[in-house]
Amino acid sequence: MVTSVGTEDDKLEMLQDLIKLDYAAAEAYEAAVERLDNTIYKQQLAAFMRDHERHIEELAPIVRQMGGEVPDSGGAKEMLTEGKVVLGSLLGDEAILKAMKTNENDTNTAYERVVEKAPPGALAIVQRGLADERRHLEWILAQLGEEAPAGRARSVRDESSRPPGMR
Ligand SMILES: [Fe+2]
Ligand SMILES: [Fe+2]
Repeated sequence: MVTSVGTEDDKLEMLQDLIKLDYAAAEAYEAAVERLDNTIYKQQLAAFMRDHERHIEELAPIVRQMGGEVPDSGGAKEMLTEGKVVLGSLLGDEAILKAMKTNENDTNTAYERVVEKAPPGALAIVQRGLADERRHLEWILAQLGEEAPAGRARSVRDESSRPPGMR
């Protein structure tokens, strides 16, 4: 499943869905961190989880200003391809990183769409959010020894940051 976030006609609904997506991502990261063995992976994914939580905090006042209710969870609908339930059942660091790669492909796709359609008051925040999402995906790809797909590559990979144990 590829995320539909960012395809909404209504901008308020789009930003509410983006918050739900960030909740789903934070929850998936939480489940991933619990199951990972590698300490460096745990620390890095915990930091990514906090980025998603910060995105929610930054988007919330904008949604409120637009007269909308701020979602307080990912909601009933599956927002991510590999949600927290899937993450909670995976074994092995590589399987977990691959699942989070799939999820970050979703968040990157969603943020890329939202940047194109964001109301002026939200633009700077979603642009910074997109930069975070790209960094998340690039880091995961680097651990897996994979290249960023064309058009999505942004920064040079830092090979020295790759922890031992996975190639
Ligand atoms: Fe986010
Ligand atoms: Fe992310």
